[in-house]
Parts: sequence; C-alpha cells; structure tokens
Amino acid sequence: MASLEIKNLHAKVENREILRGVNLTLNQGEVHALMGPNGSGKSTLAYVLAGHPNYEVTEGEVLLDGENILDLEPDERAHRGIFLAFQYPTSIPGVNVANFLRQSYNKVQQSRFMQANPGGEYKAPPVAEFRKRLTGKMSDLRMDRSFMGRYLNEGFSGGEKKRMEILQMAMLEPKFAIMDETDSGLDIDALRTVAEGVNSQLTGNLGALVITHYQRLLNYIKPQYVHIMMNGRIVANGGPELAEELDVKGYDWLRQTYAPDEVMVGDELAEVTEKRGVGVAPGITIKRTLAGQQAE
Ligand SMILES: Nc1ncnc2c1ncn2[C@@H]1O[C@H](COP(=O)(O)OP(=O)(O)OP(=O)(O)O)[C@@H](O)[C@H]1O
Ligand SMILES: [Mg+2]
Repeated sequence: MASLEIKNLHAKVENREILRGVNLTLNQGEVHALMGPNGSGKSTLAYVLAGHPNYEVTEGEVLLDGENILDLEPDERAHRGIFLAFQYPTSIPGVNVANFLRQSYNKVQQSRFMQANPGGEYKAPPVAEFRKRLTGKMSDLRMDRSFMGRYLNEGFSGGEKKRMEILQMAMLEPKFAIMDETDSGLDIDALRTVAEGVNSQLTGNLGALVITHYQRLLNYIKPQYVHIMMNGRIVANGGPELAEELDVKGYDWLRQTYAPDEVMVGDELAEVTEKRGVGVAPGITIKRTLAGQQAE
C-alpha cells in the first residue's frame, strides 16, 4: 500500500518561514481533512507537496513510498501519482481543455508504463478511446461537453474551475490527491456532484488530503482523520468529531485550549513554558491533542 509521509517539514516563501515542522502521514484509501484559520499554511503545504518553485524547503522530508520526492520536479511528482487541485486554478488562454488533458493523461500513463516495464515501448491510446474516457468522466461530473473545446479555465465560473480540477484528477487517477478548498465557489448541487466524483475515486487506491474550512464538505466526503493547522504546524489531530466541534466553536477555542504557544519555537517556547511551570527543553515543541497534552 502506498504512503505519503510528511516529516518535520519546514518551508519558506519570500524569506519568511511559513511551514514550521509539519508531520502527517497519508495512506492510500484514507481521507484526511486539513483545516485551519486563514493564513495558517494549508495552501503552502499543498504547494510544497506539488513542488511549487517559490517555496523553499529548509528542513524535513516528504516520502512517497519511502522515496524522498522533494528533489523531484513538479511533473515528476505528478508522474509518481501526486495531484494538486488548486484553491485558485489559473486559466491558460490558448490551451484547449481536451488537448491539455490528453497530453497530461498520456504523460502520466507513459511514466507509469515505463516504471512497470523498463525499456518497454509505450503506445498512447487512440484518440477515440481517450475521448470516450474523457466524456464519461465529464458526464459523471455533469460537465457539458462544450468545455472540451474551450481554453483551460478561461472565462470559467468559479464553480466550473473547481469541477475542472476534479475532472483532471479523475482522468489522471493519482495515488494521492490534495484538494485545496475544492468546495469554495461550488453551489449546493455542484458540491454534491463533485463530492460524488471524489468518492467514486476513493473506492480505488486514492489517498486524499482535503483542505477545507467547512464541515459541510465533510458531510459528503467523509474523512477518517482531521488535522488542524495553525501557524505552520499541525496542532490537533482527531477524527470527524474534531471538524464538527470546530464548526460549532470556531478556532478561538482551539487556540486558547490547545495551542496557546503555537507561534513559538525552540528557545522562545521554552522560555514561556518555563514561566508557566511546564518543563520543556529548548527546541522541543508542545503538541496538544484532544486527548490531552504531550511534549514531543
Ligand atoms: N508568495 C508569498 N509571498 C509572501 N507571503 C506568502 C506567499 N505565499 C504565502 N504567503 C504567506 O504564507 C501564509 C500562509 O499562506 P497560505 O496560503 O498557505 O494559507 P492558508 O492556510 O492556505 O489560508 P487560506 O485558508 O486563507 O487559504 C500567509 O500569511 C501568506 O500571506
Ligand atoms: Mg489556502
């Protein structure tokens, strides 16, 4: 079974540390929800996993089936089965949807074929076969066929862009998908359709990291695990009940109860914890869970 292990991941953008020691393991077949206040670093984590060049990893590793992928280019990560559905998909005028999907589909298929058959000769599927697959997935997601002839995301409504992301995911069949606020901008019916599209993939070998602010999505895509990120770290882990609790109480409760020193690391944290009479050595962070407190 494939796994994606994020270990002590630190990352900077514009010389500012955003991720400050993220630990998270996903296995294929699991759904994990990642929640957290605006600006806590959720999208940054998504970008770092996908290999966005603006984000500099300063510490830690990301292992896909035991192999560190941080030195790989974004396309190589995609070939290995990492997929990111963007919070804000960009439009690419001049790039036709059907051609774009066909090229990316063939690239990913080719790479998988070559991994399974070193030295073999990959033959792309005939266009008709590809189109059949594409139109099937489009009808699952209730997308009009006219989208095939349009430029990627150009003039798409917010909800149409989100559906386009899930269509790409359905076509590429990743091992691990990170969905960054896929629910934002979707109307109620579209939310259900998109969730069904995701759920149908979950019956296979997909592992999903679903980034969302709202419990509503999690009623449709049911996570086994819920993680809360604050200031670049995961400060609480739990099951679906954690998301429900957040929905009722907001983040302040969590901030005060479980992560009062979320912005402190190392010596700074030690100083504060010392004042409070909690014995924690420099360089050690406190991780609080719903079950209680523990020092790591
Ligand atoms: N390119 C950048 N330049 C400067 N700061 C950045 C850049 N990218 C991210 N940041 C900062 O990093 C922090 C984390 O941003 P990120 O987008 O990861 O948050 P988020 O948890 O996804 O928030 P939201 O829930 O609003 O989507 C923010 O303070 C943001 O301003
Ligand atoms: Mg975000």
